This record gives sequence, structure tokens and C-alpha cells, in this order.
Amino acid sequence: MPDTGPAVGGVDWDELKAAAVEVAARAYAPYSKFHVGAAALADDGRLLVGCNVENAAYGVVLCAECGVVSQLHATGGGRLTHFVCVNGAGDVIMPCGRCRQLLFEQGGRDLLLLTVSGVRRMDEVLPDAFGPDDLT
Ligand code: THU
Repeated sequence: MPDTGPAVGGVDWDELKAAAVEVAARAYAPYSKFHVGAAALADDGRLLVGCNVENAAYGVVLCAECGVVSQLHATGGGRLTHFVCVNGAGDVIMPCGRCRQLLFEQGGRDLLLLTVSGVRRMDEVLPDAFGPDDLT
């Protein structure tokens, strides 16, 4: 059983996961029927959530993480510090590869993620990431 105790990383992961479960119910996923809910904390404590939004042109799908990133900036910016995403059954799932890249941009190496194998740092789930520093 992964270490998901409330104190890991100084945050109540159960509470953050509950927010992801709640928003997963509002996913628009008529094609895959696979609901995803994502929840994150910003460095000022703001709670950010997102759900997946699919499209008749299948490849245009917006992952739940896109909603989180958009809400981060729409509500004042800052950095992501903690993140979790779940499926429609409430199980923790891993962010897809593309979304790990999105999260890395907004949270960097130190972002903590509740994963299928416990709490992990971003640099564990996307090692040697390409990022903003590579453009300087
Ligand atoms: N999905 C997400 O929202 N985030 C992920 O990290 C993995 C996949 C969504 C996209 C699509 O609507 C559904 O899950 C099935 O792939």
C-alpha cells in the first residue's frame, strides 16, 4: 500500500484526493467513458481542480490536468506544489506523459504528486525533464 498518510509532504492528501473525486464526476467523457478528476494546490494554498473534456474529434481531448493548469493562471498564477488525479472509480491514476510535461512547467522538480506508488516528486515521474531552463 503506497504511503498516502495525511502528513506526507505537509498536506492532507485525503482532502486533495476528495476534491479530485468530486470533480471527476463532472467530466465530459462521452467517448471513452473514462472520467478523470485532477486536484492541485498552489503555493499560496489555492485549491485548483479540473476534469477531462472530450471532443467528437477524438484527438482534441482536454485532459483533466489542462483544467488545473488553466485555473492556476486564471485565478492569479503561482506555482503548483501538490497534485493528484483519479479515475471515475476514485482510484489514483498517473498523469499521462503529456500532462507530466504540463505539470513540470507549472511546478518544477519539487512538485509532489500522489501516485499509484505513493507520494513522488516530479523529478521521479519525469526524470531529466526538458523545461524552461533548456531555452535559456
Ligand atoms: N486523461 C486525462 O484526463 N488525464 C490523464 O492524465 C490521462 C488521460 C483522459 C483523456 C481521455 O478523456 C480519457 O482520460 C481516456 O484517455
